[in-house]
Amino acid sequence: MSEFLKTALIGHPVSHSKSPLIHNYWIKKYGLSGEYGAFDIRPENLEEGLSRLAREGYSGFNLTLPHKERALAICDEADATARAVGAVNTIAVRDKKLYGMNTDVFGFTEHIEEGRAGFDFTAGPAVLLGAGGAAKAVLQGLIQQKAPEIWILNRTREKAEEMAFGRPNAYVFDWNKREDILSDANILVNATSLGLEGKEKLEIDLKNLNPGALVNDIVYVPLYTELLKQAQARGNPVVTGIGMLLHQARPAFRSWFGVMPDVDADLLRLVQK
Ligand code: ATR
Repeated sequence: MSEFLKTALIGHPVSHSKSPLIHNYWIKKYGLSGEYGAFDIRPENLEEGLSRLAREGYSGFNLTLPHKERALAICDEADATARAVGAVNTIAVRDKKLYGMNTDVFGFTEHIEEGRAGFDFTAGPAVLLGAGGAAKAVLQGLIQQKAPEIWILNRTREKAEEMAFGRPNAYVFDWNKREDILSDANILVNATSLGLEGKEKLEIDLKNLNPGALVNDIVYVPLYTELLKQAQARGNPVVTGIGMLLHQARPAFRSWFGVMPDVDADLLRLVQK
């Protein structure tokens, strides 16, 4: 019998998260010995909470809002992607040390790959809406995939400028220019929380959008957001946000359990319930 591995999500709040569903599904599917729990830890207690859980024998963690940036500073080591994004969403405990990673970047690029096999990120500029934690991971994904230019628009322009700082191919535009710069876009990504059930709408008319541009929303509740519906109605290819959630979990799971899990139809059904 293999060792029982304890892993958990840490956030504040955590109750809405689908991560326990995903990881516990894989533990069962691959016949592994372990569990994935969830802890609501306040930001001021994060460091103490992580080291206590590591001492109690936990092998790994996911971090969700609002902990991802603070976690980078707390980790003993972090990989290049986490450092480039400035945020950690996965921690593996190795020799009692916290090793930070950012698998959101993989999640973003992998689900586009899966949704639109052969999509060419290098074919033209990427338009990125948002400058929060999720947008930072998307930006890094676009850079890794060699998007020739990345045009960032955010309601708070300074946050977009901070995010673009030191990135030679990233340019910032005013939020109110979002309908005017779409004609050359190769891909449009909404990485704001607009369009999420219960939040405000994303006000954008896609009439100028390049007819071949891929449209991706990181919002996945609802699965087909108003943005994606509008894009589909125009005939643009779309990729929903559910894949980023599922695919970011795969390398995290592998870092703890040593198995790279699949996203299968049953898991898709489970998370969309
Ligand atoms: P996450 O880590 O999930 O990205 P976040 O850091 O709170 O969450 O970021 C939310 C994003 O949605 C930000 O880009 C935010 O814009 P600001 O930086 O100006 O806050 C954007 N956003 C949220 N509400 C918005 C609104 N009503 N109009 C425009 N953008 C909005």
